[in-house]
Amino acid sequence: MSSPEDPCYRLLTDYANGFMVSQVVFAACELGVFDVLAEAPGPLAVAAVAAGVGASSHAMERLLDACVSLKLLQVEMRGGEAFYGNTEMSRIYLSRVSPTSQCNMLLYMAKTTYHCWGRLAQAVREGKNQYLQTFGVPADELFSAIYRSEGERVQFMQALRELWSVDGRSVLTAFDLSLFPLVCDLGGGAGALAEQCLCLYPGCHVTVFDLPEVVRTAKEHVSVPEEEHISFQEGDFFKDRLPEADLYILARILHDWADGRCSQLLERVYHSCKPGGGILVIESLLDEDRRGPLLTQLYSLNMLVQTEGQERTPSHYRALLSSAGFRDFQFKKTGLIYDAILARK
Ligand SMILES: C[S@@+](CC[C@H](N)C(=O)[O-])C[C@H]1O[C@@H](n2cnc3c(N)ncnc32)[C@H](O)[C@@H]1O
Repeated sequence: MSSPEDPCYRLLTDYANGFMVSQVVFAACELGVFDVLAEAPGPLAVAAVAAGVGASSHAMERLLDACVSLKLLQVEMRGGEAFYGNTEMSRIYLSRVSPTSQCNMLLYMAKTTYHCWGRLAQAVREGKNQYLQTFGVPADELFSAIYRSEGERVQFMQALRELWSVDGRSVLTAFDLSLFPLVCDLGGGAGALAEQCLCLYPGCHVTVFDLPEVVRTAKEHVSVPEEEHISFQEGDFFKDRLPEADLYILARILHDWADGRCSQLLERVYHSCKPGGGILVIESLLDEDRRGPLLTQLYSLNMLVQTEGQERTPSHYRALLSSAGFRDFQFKKTGLIYDAILARK
């Protein structure tokens, strides 16, 4: 029977209001609340936080109190006044000075992803992304559309870097990659995964291959690894000759593309790969029956609103890889967001 105590009604209320929680995190990040608190010698009163970020005091109080309930901040009362400080979560992931900060990813989600999700129903109706309708930019060329401006490209590249500072080790140690001294990270962005690869497998050399404008932006605006065992090569992986390698890494690449484009890319990788070499696909894997994990299902909807691709099951990837010629397919679920697949030529 329907009542306010009905667990179904409570769950529905949580779902309906979930976007407000995301917005609290995004706004606190955008305003620099966690940074002001990280720089302060101790907990700060509302007025000091508001002054530090240039915001209204009475509005800031509501934001800070919501952050406390979300465990993003802690509060202590002194003489009847509230003093706020970062929690462990915000110190590690939300303050910009932290090496594992996820701020750029949150800001990218706030400025880009969130707007695309506003047209989810229409994307499902039409079966395609909503870039043109959301931003007024034609989506003919996926990646020129994804980066509406140089600023957005920098933010997206920094955002992509951030995840590997937390999740990189788990995907790169899912298999022993020490068998592959020459590695090519296709669509490797600013080289964050390459850097992790070198830490874990010090004998290897990694070539990071990405679009010319992305490599240039990475070198000019994003901190790229300054390592003699990492080199950058500009090119289009659908058209240009691929660097020679024993192992090709495709991290968060195939999920951007429809099956036909994936097959085209995988066939090109197969032809460039040395015999006995391998391909490491890093993606968030759907369960075989597609009933979960929920986060991967949501990411697949995200691919619908933002790209031409989707998240896939292990057997879907196996079919794509084996029709390109790869054999010895293995996959490992890491238990984290991203999983790993290894196949051999
Ligand atoms: C979703 S990002 C993944 C980046 C990186 N592999 C990671 O996991 O952080 C996709 C990457 O593919 C690159 N890319 C897209 N189309 C490409 C193309 N035709 N040739 C080379 N790189 C491309 C993009 O510039 C971007 O860096």
